[in-house]
Amino acid sequence: MSKEIEDHRVLNPSSNEPFDAVLARHVSRRSVMRGGLGLAAASVLGFGGAARALASGGAKKTPLSLAFESVRGSRTDAVVVPAGYTAQVLVPWGTPLHDQASAWHEGLSMTPERQAQSVGMHHDGMHGFALEPSSASRRFVLALNNEYIDQQALWAPQGGPTNAEEGARPADESRTEINAHGVTLVEVARSADGHWSHVADSPYNRRFTSATEMQLSGPVAGSAYVRTPFSPEGVLSRGTNNNCGNGFTPWGTYLACEENWPNVFVNTGARFRDDARIGIPTERGRYGWETSAGDTSEWDGEFARFDITPRGASALDDYRNEARTFGYQVEIDPYTGERAVKRTAMGRFRHEGCWLGKLVPGKPVVFYSGHDARNEYVYKFVSDAAWDPADANRPGEAYDRLAIGAKYLDEGVLYAARFEADGRGEWLPLTPQARTRDGRPLHEALGLAANDLAGIIVNTCDAADLMGATPMDRPEWASVDPASGEVYITLTNNSQRTGDGSTATYTHDGGSLDEPGVGFATVPVNAANPRSENGAGHIIRWRERDDVAAFGWEVFVFGAAADDADNPSGLTEANQFASPDGLWFDDRGEGEGILWIQTDNGYEGVAEHTNDQLLAVVPGALGSGEDAPSVVHADNQQGLKRFAVGPNGAEVTGIFATPDRTALFINIQHPGNWPASEDATESASGSVRPRAATVVIQKRDGGPIGV
Ligand code: FEO
Ligand code: CA
Ligand code: CA
Repeated sequence: MSKEIEDHRVLNPSSNEPFDAVLARHVSRRSVMRGGLGLAAASVLGFGGAARALASGGAKKTPLSLAFESVRGSRTDAVVVPAGYTAQVLVPWGTPLHDQASAWHEGLSMTPERQAQSVGMHHDGMHGFALEPSSASRRFVLALNNEYIDQQALWAPQGGPTNAEEGARPADESRTEINAHGVTLVEVARSADGHWSHVADSPYNRRFTSATEMQLSGPVAGSAYVRTPFSPEGVLSRGTNNNCGNGFTPWGTYLACEENWPNVFVNTGARFRDDARIGIPTERGRYGWETSAGDTSEWDGEFARFDITPRGASALDDYRNEARTFGYQVEIDPYTGERAVKRTAMGRFRHEGCWLGKLVPGKPVVFYSGHDARNEYVYKFVSDAAWDPADANRPGEAYDRLAIGAKYLDEGVLYAARFEADGRGEWLPLTPQARTRDGRPLHEALGLAANDLAGIIVNTCDAADLMGATPMDRPEWASVDPASGEVYITLTNNSQRTGDGSTATYTHDGGSLDEPGVGFATVPVNAANPRSENGAGHIIRWRERDDVAAFGWEVFVFGAAADDADNPSGLTEANQFASPDGLWFDDRGEGEGILWIQTDNGYEGVAEHTNDQLLAVVPGALGSGEDAPSVVHADNQQGLKRFAVGPNGAEVTGIFATPDRTALFINIQHPGNWPASEDATESASGSVRPRAATVVIQKRDGGPIGV
């Protein structure tokens, strides 16, 4: 335990203020701003309703409204959607990408080769990339994260995985599991009758797995931190792991975000500062892939690399640096399938996702990312290069999109967020010369050379600790209203948030995919995370100010069960939710849009009423008068509606829609007994081998979704 970490706890004191008092104070503050300063000043200070009024010239107009009945909570083996909608299963795990492969069947035995040519497992973040502007809403490349695996489903025909907990894993089982992770690119198309299918043998169909060779780029590339036997120059990595939420760029590339990657490694020897801080296991990797090392078929340390224990004389004699080639934002060109690039300037942590900020010609390009673990941080990356609209994606044209990515993503400043109790916020630069809370240059506080930006990136979490960032309740997805620039972020839950102001304890626990538990073991409540043992989670909204380092924030909605005493947003049977995770601001033009909220619920109060779900709210319609805040509260909660519910056991995650908004794509991850057929709303009569899948939701009349 370092002194710096203890300092952090002292210098991030709890407000010890109950969350209802915090909400009430924020509501009051908003009214004061509007009443006292007028609309123009309020928009500068960052309040959304006022900004929207300005964007529309101040004219009153009918706000966008949600034209569906909130669906009831459901606990079945089926997807539920509103009346008048259909839900179709598309590209479930194991779907062959090429015609020559035999079709999926219930008893199919998966092999490394077959999995490498099939849709991966456990769908998460995704996005569609148009092939031509004229057909963008009916034919595109679907880029899809395959976050992790269900070993029981993967190995069902043989009764489960071999030596999952102890002993050596068979090499081909490890290879198959490695190939089930990563990213799937697959062309999908809609027929005239509205049916979607994947295009087998499309030249766009590809897999990037946890074994695919990738480029390192940005400050860490070529540094001593990432020299390995595989890449003595420190410029290559093998594979991308546990890609959770996603991002996409305005120049037409996909961003796959490495989240719970530390758990596939193991270090049984002397710890490095960064591997301890990020939580690399100390006994066995999550799937034990390292135990396949030494198999006669092993090629070039393909399994040995997951054991980062220092054993040799130098970094070229063992895989001590292998994990330092993970923890990044991975840029993929969905059109060419060129070698993917890990953009190290954007930080190294458990990236939930990567979300584009408001795009303004001549201004830097901004991306936001949360570190999903208890008491970890929110970050933003600000490019050095100014946005040139000539770099915008041109579907159907062939050119080097990754070169444009290098222009915007390899040089810039990474910041961590500090949320003040008064609704202001500060972005803290993670640069070598930045001053820590105790006045030292950051590089010095980390024991690094004065110009060692790579060292700061490798130790991103420690750097954010030292700068005084605010530990958050597990930041998951963010999304940005492109008109106002307001940023929403889900804080899914946090069982390790104390209400008594007790001192936090820093741990080096390994954590696991289901139990993120690194960083601070416990921290007291603060204004932005005002609930102790926050089981239901909440969503925060902020707006950047003119100063790149300043923002203003507020709580947008608190999760809760309808009958909870702690229900500050006044949720009811029609919209109770907990553990918000996926998020998408669906811009519908003229400064209006729908905020879609997906859940990954671990909160019994809601789980006893419904499976995970997709909700919708029009933030711009919540504030009907100048004194009414555009946040969810008891008097306007009917504006938050449940749109869909997932099947038993599943998380609802990943979301985008076709440009014409007639087809909404979501993912069903880790279902228990689904899908029964291509109709996502059908329940299985018996048991089926569960398969994560994309679900396409459309209106029977072909109209736009939600309205
Ligand atoms: Fe993979 Fe934080 O969800
Ligand atoms: Ca997630
Ligand atoms: Ca989650």
